[in-house]
Amino acid sequence: MQVVKYAFQQHGDERGQLVALEEYRDIPFQIRRVYYMYATKEGVRRGFHAHKSLEQILICIHGTCKILLDSGTEKKIVSLEKPYEGLYIASDMWREMFDFSPDAVLLVLASDYYEEEDYIRNYEEFLAFVKEKEAKTWR
Ligand code: TYD
Repeated sequence: MQVVKYAFQQHGDERGQLVALEEYRDIPFQIRRVYYMYATKEGVRRGFHAHKSLEQILICIHGTCKILLDSGTEKKIVSLEKPYEGLYIASDMWREMFDFSPDAVLLVLASDYYEEEDYIRNYEEFLAFVKEKEAKTWR
């Protein structure tokens, strides 16, 4: 499994840092939606889903958190600890977010609007979905 983590360009000077993100330039998709999680309670684990077509980039712009990526055959844990790091998550990837520091702000850039129909929230369904997708690519 390939983990795609971006190190965004930082425009730093004596005043501090600034990161600018432009769709199709810094972000590989059209940004249709932005959302963020904060004040996440200790021990909370969120996510537990994949998507049929949504692409996302996760940026922990303050604090730290961890992301579990599960392709259906392989799992990886990625730490987000810097405000200039972005984790790309393809649609057909099961994800769970955990180990949020109390001050964590997790910003998400998404390629589409919120559509519940695009979610795969059942793990068995997710495994069937990736298996079917792989079968299609070899057909
Ligand atoms: P939820 O899907 O539980 O978040 P996660 O699975 O990432 O932990 O979302 C929490 C609530 O927020 C749920 O009622 C749906 C709503 N929501 C929106 O209205 N728009 C959005 O873009 C997202 C991500 C969630």
